[in-house]
This record gives sequence, structure tokens and C-alpha cells, in this order.
Amino acid sequence: MVRIASTTAVASLLVTQCLLVTARDSNVKEVVVEGTTFALNGDNVSYRFHVDNSTGDLVSDHFGGSVTGAIPMEAMGEVNGWVGEQGRVRREFPDQGRGDFRIPAIRVRQSEGYTVSDLQYQSYSVVHGKPALPGLPATMGTEDDVTTLLIHLHDNYSAVSAELSYSIFPRYDAIVRSANVTNKGKGNITIETLASMSVDFPYENLDMISLRGDWAREAHRERRKVEYGTQSFGSSTGYSSHLHNPFLALVDPSTTESQGEAWGFSLIYSGSFSVEVEKGSQGLTRALLGFNPSQLSWPLGPGETLTSPECVAVYSKDGIGGVSRSLHRLYRNHLIKSKFATKNRPVLLNSWEGLSFDYNQSTIQNLAQESADLGTKLFVLDDGWFGDKYPRTSDTAGLGDWVPNPRRFPHGLRSAVNSITNLKVANSSTNMRFGIWVEPEMVNPNSSLYHEHPDWALHAGSYPRTERRNQLVLNLALLEVQDFIISSVSDILKSAKISYVKWDNNRGIHEMPSPATEHAYQLGLYRVFNNLTTQFPDVLWEGCASGGGRFDAGVLQFFPQIWTSDDTDAVERISIQLGTSLAYPPSAMGAHLSTVPNQQTGRTVPISFRAHVAMMGGSFGLELDPATVPKEDKAALPGLIALAERVNPIVLTGDMYRLRLPEDSSWPAALFVSEEGKKAVLFAFQTRPNVNHALPWVRLQGLEPQALYRVDQNGTYSGATLMNIGLQFTFDSDYGSRVVFLERQ
Ligand SMILES: *[C@@H]1O[C@H](CO)[C@@H](O)[C@H](O)[C@H]1NC(C)=O
Ligand SMILES: *[C@@H]1O[C@H](CO)[C@@H](O)[C@H](O)[C@H]1NC(C)=O
Ligand SMILES: *[C@@H]1O[C@H](CO)[C@@H](O)[C@H](O)[C@H]1NC(C)=O
Ligand SMILES: *[C@@H]1O[C@H](CO)[C@@H](O)[C@H](O)[C@H]1NC(C)=O
Ligand SMILES: *[C@@H]1O[C@H](CO)[C@@H](O)[C@H](O)[C@H]1NC(C)=O
Ligand SMILES: *[C@@H]1O[C@H](CO)[C@@H](O)[C@H](O)[C@H]1NC(C)=O
Ligand SMILES: *[C@@H]1O[C@H](CO)[C@@H](O)[C@H](O)[C@H]1NC(C)=O
Ligand SMILES: *[C@@H]1O[C@H](CO)[C@@H](O)[C@H](O)[C@H]1NC(C)=O
Ligand SMILES: *[C@@H]1O[C@H](CO)[C@@H](O)[C@H](O)[C@H]1NC(C)=O
Ligand SMILES: *[C@@H]1O[C@H](CO)[C@@H](O)[C@H](O)[C@H]1NC(C)=O
Repeated sequence: MVRIASTTAVASLLVTQCLLVTARDSNVKEVVVEGTTFALNGDNVSYRFHVDNSTGDLVSDHFGGSVTGAIPMEAMGEVNGWVGEQGRVRREFPDQGRGDFRIPAIRVRQSEGYTVSDLQYQSYSVVHGKPALPGLPATMGTEDDVTTLLIHLHDNYSAVSAELSYSIFPRYDAIVRSANVTNKGKGNITIETLASMSVDFPYENLDMISLRGDWAREAHRERRKVEYGTQSFGSSTGYSSHLHNPFLALVDPSTTESQGEAWGFSLIYSGSFSVEVEKGSQGLTRALLGFNPSQLSWPLGPGETLTSPECVAVYSKDGIGGVSRSLHRLYRNHLIKSKFATKNRPVLLNSWEGLSFDYNQSTIQNLAQESADLGTKLFVLDDGWFGDKYPRTSDTAGLGDWVPNPRRFPHGLRSAVNSITNLKVANSSTNMRFGIWVEPEMVNPNSSLYHEHPDWALHAGSYPRTERRNQLVLNLALLEVQDFIISSVSDILKSAKISYVKWDNNRGIHEMPSPATEHAYQLGLYRVFNNLTTQFPDVLWEGCASGGGRFDAGVLQFFPQIWTSDDTDAVERISIQLGTSLAYPPSAMGAHLSTVPNQQTGRTVPISFRAHVAMMGGSFGLELDPATVPKEDKAALPGLIALAERVNPIVLTGDMYRLRLPEDSSWPAALFVSEEGKKAVLFAFQTRPNVNHALPWVRLQGLEPQALYRVDQNGTYSGATLMNIGLQFTFDSDYGSRVVFLERQ
């Protein structure tokens, strides 16, 4: 039987074997199976596909706004030409060979050497809740939150099986997909490609949005038209990388920040990845997200399985902002495991800008004292505290030797930490807390570790081991390396009262023993993260990779916050933070106020502007030596810290609206509305001088039209007025900024 048996339009309603799965008390049926037709339904999304009974292939029917019942289908008609039927239809899990010339979601090199496969539908099952992915970070939820549809596929000709997992989080309009492949035969096979998500849209005109950048220039949004052929981006650095983030949005060309259809895809993975969007000859658009095929070639022996990372796909009719808010809520509630996910974060001071490598116990004690006097609650000792035989006094030595430097700490680290945690924070009942910096995935050739285990560093035979920042990458694919890192970091954390860790990572992966080492490294890294965060749940962990080089959903499973960029210039940071917020919740962003002129840009902006921008991140801090801060700026700091603490709970749990983007306007603005809608905080900036130009209005979003809101102390207005007319601000100069609180009456 062909997909459409008759040439006369509409397919009949399928009423046989109707399975409805209702996980919640609502009219929406999350998973509906009718024969071999499958539907996943959220509050405002439907995802549909069916089995083509003549080929056993899965055919995509819909991913978009809610639909119910039968879908009208027109017969394809006589297929004549180069592209066969496989290449003309929308496929759920396109394999290679058999006439589909578009990019495949899976390519298996069979033991005989060829790469044809034929994965046919076998059966399905439905699971309430969501099974964990072996060894990989993944979204989580109870039976009330999520329902999972599993589709079992099998290739009769090669004894390869695959399973597709689709989970629907109905309240987030989010569909999460992953795939696994099992070798059920007797020979060895190789998985050359395995996409987590593959979706075929029937639309010919779409724009794609991605986040590109480099070191200190992360998350710049890029919007372009999807053209015929393939357009792709990804990472082959061994990390999700500054260069491109594992996030893709596809939007209608008319879609804006606040209106229109948008699909967002976010890969829960921290390694090399690939995103490919192909508009095929027939005008259908395919999007694939998953492993980077150039770093996979994963060998599968008999009985072995490869599991892909998972990809979250959300749909919104409320523009790109709608996609972001769904992802933010999903990640806050169903991805980040840390108990700090939505808890107020301590304002911190990091020693790096103030002291760099140049310190001893008394200089850090003084800096910690000054931090406490300013009202910061967490003192973070950055690089340089470790190494004995090869002391870390510059970046040429010490990485790998995770023992405190006895010359810097003659009485041990514990004693130094105790003197700091005994400090009282000004005007507060709390004591100073202590945090520490580590970079455990790395080794300097100048280290005891490297001398003992040169084979632990990633390398390829006798090819030179290329250094960056005088360092090499440890091979985390090796169990002994994972255990070494687990025990060295555990020992430090047990040795003193440490309540925060900044986990850095400052170079890309160059030489590897095999392409598959890259994914094996990620699995090793996740084992280490899982072990340490489970052992030390009271530690606040912050990810970092030369800034935002590993700002991804995989890291967020374990670390509730990530350092967003090494560029702390406040104007640049507006772009970086609003760009990062396309996919990731502001609660996850580390953002600090630093000194001027800024190290990266040489720009000088007022301290209030610098502080206001940093407050839009969930973890606010200072990256400076208070002793070198001008007097009037220093006097402003306690007030700005208090403001940051007041803003923090709304930023951590609220919905974010990017009201105006820095690339479109000299008056960028963002609004955070608390979960229950009672409070909101508006950030408004002026980034260029306003010479003789009318004052712009900032129109708010996300308020209740009928409700009344008190705006600071200056009046009460209806939500409708604030959203349809807005607020106007006069800025005294360029780099003006305002933080305005709204309270629903
Ligand atoms: C395909 O076959 C299944 C099982 O035999 C049947 O339930 C279903 O109705 C068929 N689908 C179509 C579209 O004919
Ligand atoms: C779904 O749409 C309704 C009405 O259009 C809206 O009130 C609701 O917030 C939407 N739900 C989500 C998850 O976007
Ligand atoms: C697969 O192989 C089994 C056993 O050889 C056979 O019964 C079945 O019909 C085959 N399925 C397909 C779709 O070819
Ligand atoms: C493959 O994935 C399916 C669906 O998630 C799961 O039930 C199955 O256990 C997985 N198989 C292996 C070997 O991990
Ligand atoms: C499969 O690979 C393993 C490990 O490399 C090897 O020992 C075995 O002989 C191979 N089996 C076949 C059938 O080639
Ligand atoms: C620590 O460093 C400061 C500044 O370099 C110096 O004045 C002081 O003597 C040093 N203290 C010790 C104990 O070495
Ligand atoms: C502590 O309180 C005093 C008196 O209110 C005030 O002058 C000072 O700025 C405050 N310091 C901090 C760090 O908040
Ligand atoms: C090792 O450290 C010394 C300084 O202690 C430095 O001169 C040398 O360049 C370093 N070697 C490497 C390979 O980084
Ligand atoms: C962490 O790893 C250590 C050493 O491998 C092991 O003994 C311990 O059980 C692990 N803990 C957790 C929580 O995984
Ligand atoms: C509201 O009033 C405060 C003083 O009460 C003033 O500093 C602030 O600029 C005013 N805000 C607006 C939006 O007018």
C-alpha cells in the first residue's frame, strides 16, 4: 500500500486502536496513537507523524500550532524523475541510501563497508514521565510533567535497531527527542552520523537564527534566509564553543521578537556538534541537530548501543521571545539539578582582576576584608593558588597539580579559608563565604602530573602535542583520568570550607587518538560532573570556558550558572547577554562589574550602567580591586550591591522580555516579570548620545492589561497603558541606564 492510496484528496478518519494518554487533568491528550499515526500535543503545539505502510518509513505530518483529528492528504501522483519518493516526502528519521539525496539523520557503515540502511517501523511504547539517558544530561520530569513516546525501528538487512524517544512537556510546548542505535548483528559496525533531532518542514520560506562569536565576543545573533542547499554551523573544538552555540531557531520571515511563528532547537550537549539546515530541490526544509559527523565514527560491536544527546524543540506563536521564555522555564524547572537553580545568589568578588597571579595569604586576606566591607558575600580566589614542585605563579606551570602552593599558604589552605570565612559582611548577619577556581581538564607540561602520566594528555601517535596557553588537554575518555579529577577536586573541597567552585576550561581540543574520543571525552566529563555535584550538592558550581566557550544546556544540568563572557564591557555585554538569553535562562548567567577603562574594549562607562547590565544576569559580582576604584565609584558600590540583591529574585525566576535589541536601537531594554506576575523590573539603557532626537517610548510586555501597576514611586498605571503606550526616560548622557520596579496593585 502506498502512503496515499487514492488520488482523491482527504484521508478518512482513523478510528481503530485509538490510544489516548492523559497525564494531566486537561483536555489535551499528550500522546495520541491511532493505528500507526502518532500525535504529541502540548498546550499550544502539535507534533504528528505516521508510518508509511508500504515502506515502513516514518513520515512527518506536522510540527506547529495545535491540530486535532485527521490531516488532509493529497496523493503524490506519479513519481518520475531523478528524485524518488523517499526524496520528496517529509521523513522523521532519514537514513542513507534508497533515494533520499538530502542530509541523513543516521549513517551506519555496515561491517561489509557500505552505508545503506533501511530502518523500518516495528512497534511503539508510551512511558509516563521520562526515562534517563545513559551517561548523558537530559531534561527530567514526573508523570505529571512529561510523557514519552518510544518508537522502535529495525533494519532487517543488517540487524541494526534504533529507538526514537519523543517526550512532550505540554506546559512548555516542548518536544524533546533523542535516538539510540544498537548493533544486533555479529559484525562490527560504525556510526558515522546520528542526529538527535531531524525535522522536515513543508515550508519553502524560513529564516534561521543562530548564535556566533569568538572568545570575548560570544552569542551574537545571526539571522539569515534559508536558501536552497545546505547551510550549516557547528563546533569541532571538542566543546560547544564560542564560535557557534548549539542553538537554532527557524522562523517565518515575518516573525519578530514578539510576534509570529518560531521554532527553537537546543541541544543538551557540551561537545562538538553539527546543525544543518537544508532546503531540498522540492522546497521542503530539513533541520538536523546532533553529533558532529567529523568527530564521531563510533565503533559498535555486537550488542552495543550508541545514544545521541537529546535536543529540545519548542514552538511558539509569540515570536523568538516566546521560544526563549519556554526554554528558560523548561531549563529552570526540568534541566538544572542544582538546588541553587532559582535561589538568590551571593554577590561575589573575584580576585583575578585585582591580584592576578601576584598574591600571598595576607594580600588575599586584605582583598577579602575589603570585599566584606563593601557588602559582597562570597570571595572567590581565582587562578594561582596551587602547585608545589611546579608552582602556578604564571600560566606556564602547575595545571594538574591540585595541591595548595605551600609558599603562598604556609599554614595551609584551610587556615587561609578560615580567616576569610570569619569575616563579617558589612551590615549583614552573615559571614563571608569562600570560593575557588579550578581547571581540572588541563595539564601544563611543567607539572608533576605530566611527568608522571604523559600518556594522559590527548595526543595522536607521535604527532606533536600542540599547546595553547602552554597547556594540554587531559583525555577524559580514560577512566583513570576521570577518577584522578574526581579525587583531586574532592580532596580540595573536603580540605576547607569552600562553598563555590568556578570550573574553567581554557583551550580547544586539537589532536585526538580517534574521532570517537571526542564523544567519549564528553561522557567522561559528565561522569565527573555528576559525581562531584552529587557528592557536593551544597557547593555553588559555576561553569566557565574562557568566558562563554561552554555555555550550553549540557553543563547546565550540573552547574546552575556559567560565566557568560570574558568581555565585561557593559555595552558589549548587553549584546552578549541578550544573545545568550535566546536559549538560556538569565538565571544561568554570571555577570560582573569590572573597572574602567575596560580591559577588552578600552571603553569607560559609568559604574551604574556597568552594574545595571550585570544585574540582568542571575549571578552578580565584582571583578575588581576595591583599592583601585575611584572614591565616588566606591561609595556607589554598596547601594548597587543592594539593588542587585533586590533585582535578583525576579531575574532568577521571572519571564524575560527583550523589549528592544542593542543591534536595532540605541535604547536597548529588557523586562523581567516575576512568575506570579506580581513584580517586574525594567532595565532601560542608552548606548549612544542622544542629540536632538525625540525621547523613545519603551513599551512593556507580559503584563495583565486590566491590572494596575505601581511604577517605582512615580505613579500607578494600567498594564494596558504600560504595554500600549509605555514609559519614557530622559538620560543625562550617553551610557545612561535605569532600573525601574513595577508592582501589581
Ligand atoms: C498501516 O498499518 C497499520 C497496522 O497494520 C494500520 O493500523 C494502519 O491503519 C495503516 N495505516 C494506513 C495509513 O493505512
Ligand atoms: C497557549 O495559548 C493560550 C491562549 O492563546 C495562552 O493563554 C497560553 O499562555 C499559551 N500557552 C503557552 C504554553 O504558551
Ligand atoms: C524482517 O524479517 C523478518 C524475519 O526474517 C520477516 O518476518 C519480516 O517480514 C521482515 N520485515 C520486513 C519489513 O521486511
Ligand atoms: C534505547 O532507547 C530506548 C528509548 O529511550 C530505551 O528504552 C532503551 O533502553 C535504549 N537502549 C539502550 C541499550 O540504551
Ligand atoms: C570487532 O572488533 C573487535 C574489537 O576491535 C575485534 O576484537 C573483533 O575481532 C571484531 N570482530 C569482527 C567480526 O570483525
Ligand atoms: C605578601 O605580599 C605583600 C605584597 O607583595 C608583601 O608586602 C608582604 O610582605 C607579603 N607577605 C608575606 C607573608 O610574604
Ligand atoms: C552600612 O550601613 C551604613 C549606615 O547605614 C552605610 O553608611 C554603609 O554604606 C553601609 N555599608 C554597606 C556595605 O552596605
Ligand atoms: C616551564 O616553566 C618555565 C618557568 O618556570 C618556563 O620558562 C618554560 O617556558 C615552561 N615550559 C613550558 C613548556 O611551558
Ligand atoms: C564518585 O567517584 C568515586 C571514585 O570513583 C566513587 O567512590 C564514588 O562512589 C562516586 N560518587 C558518586 C556520587 O558518584
Ligand atoms: C521616580 O522617582 C524617583 C524619585 O522618587 C526618581 O529618582 C526616578 O527617576 C523617577 N523615575 C521615573 C521613571 O520617573
